[in-house]
Amino acid sequence: MLCSSLIRRPRLTILDRPNQTKNIIERSIVIAIHTRSGSFVTEWIAYCKERGIQYKEVDCFASDIIQQLRGCQALLWHWKHSDFRAQLFARQLIASVENMGITVFPDNSTAWHYDDKVGQKYLLEAVGAPLVETHIFYDKETAIQWIEQADFPKVWKLRGGAGSQNVQLIGSRRHARRLAKVAFSRGWRNSRFYNLRDRIWQFKRDKTLGSFVNIGRGIVRSVLPHRANSRSSRQVDYLYFQNFIPESDHDIRVVVIGKRAFAIKRMVREGDFRASGSGAIHYEPAYIPKECIEIAFDVAADMQAQSCAFDFIYSGSKWLVIEISYTFTADAYRKCPGFWDRSMNWHPASVTPERFVLEDLLDVLSNNAA
Ligand SMILES: Nc1ncnc2c1ncn2[C@@H]1O[C@H](COP(=O)(O)OP(=O)(O)O)[C@@H](O)[C@H]1O
Ligand SMILES: [Mg+2]
Repeated sequence: MLCSSLIRRPRLTILDRPNQTKNIIERSIVIAIHTRSGSFVTEWIAYCKERGIQYKEVDCFASDIIQQLRGCQALLWHWKHSDFRAQLFARQLIASVENMGITVFPDNSTAWHYDDKVGQKYLLEAVGAPLVETHIFYDKETAIQWIEQADFPKVWKLRGGAGSQNVQLIGSRRHARRLAKVAFSRGWRNSRFYNLRDRIWQFKRDKTLGSFVNIGRGIVRSVLPHRANSRSSRQVDYLYFQNFIPESDHDIRVVVIGKRAFAIKRMVREGDFRASGSGAIHYEPAYIPKECIEIAFDVAADMQAQSCAFDFIYSGSKWLVIEISYTFTADAYRKCPGFWDRSMNWHPASVTPERFVLEDLLDVLSNNAA
């Protein structure tokens, strides 16, 4: 389906020439949008309609997706880690579409390490980012050798997952040895009970009828797990530990999209060391250390990421990166009162991450065409 809005555009003067050129280019392009899934899609379509940009609805899961993309200059596909089918081929499709000269969001540099803390370890070390010291093992013998001489506690993680789902504090060498045994034998599947535990925590936090009803839904999901959960692949033959940064009652989440950075402070769950997914969020820019914003801008540029969310934790002397992600729940940032630019100037503005992505993409297309 090819759509374009009928919005009347203002008459342009000679003074508007750069904008005029951009408008002409915008009217001549077609953006392909995967519309079947992805929470960024609604804003992307609204933006295209407002600006009279032609877009074509495509289905990245269809076998003829490459044919569908012929004649398009860009592809937008907001794929999520929880989509086990997308995980099977998203990276391969993106690389192939880039090969056609089509601009993609997320592109390969932005997404190859998505939902993959193992990949992120290598990349963040490679670009010299201040990553929390991270250890990875691919055989039991090496893992055990390291465990025997390491200090505990350590933080153990699976390579994928969000909202602290696959992150645990390991207090003793004995517990770490047990993990090594599992990692190099049967491995792990997503726990069907995590969701229930999280909903109980949300009820304790909010004490609302809605959060109480959610516990009931969690019980149902424990018995009848969501298809995405029950189909996720087994995690086996690797063991990942991070040094534990103690006494942090929060982490800082900074999102860089092009020239903008916005951020939130997330408090840990009660009686827990984990902030991700707690829902206890502060939005005031005064809470955000400038050092985190500067590191995030620098690392995002080094990685050539179109969009990157960074989790930071304070080690007592400096801010360290825990993990990164190209995407996030956009709704969680709408209360941010503005963003910083690359020169650390603050811009009070509404924060609509999906629109930032599309604005940047249009800039790239305009530059390519100019
Ligand atoms: N090395 C660490 N030291 C201390 N706390 C950590 C460490 N790694 C993670 N955390 C805490 O656990 C939370 C979840 O970890 P993270 O690696 O971001 O996983 P997820 O992908 O589930 O968000 C973080 O928000 C942070 O509060
Ligand atoms: Mg996180």
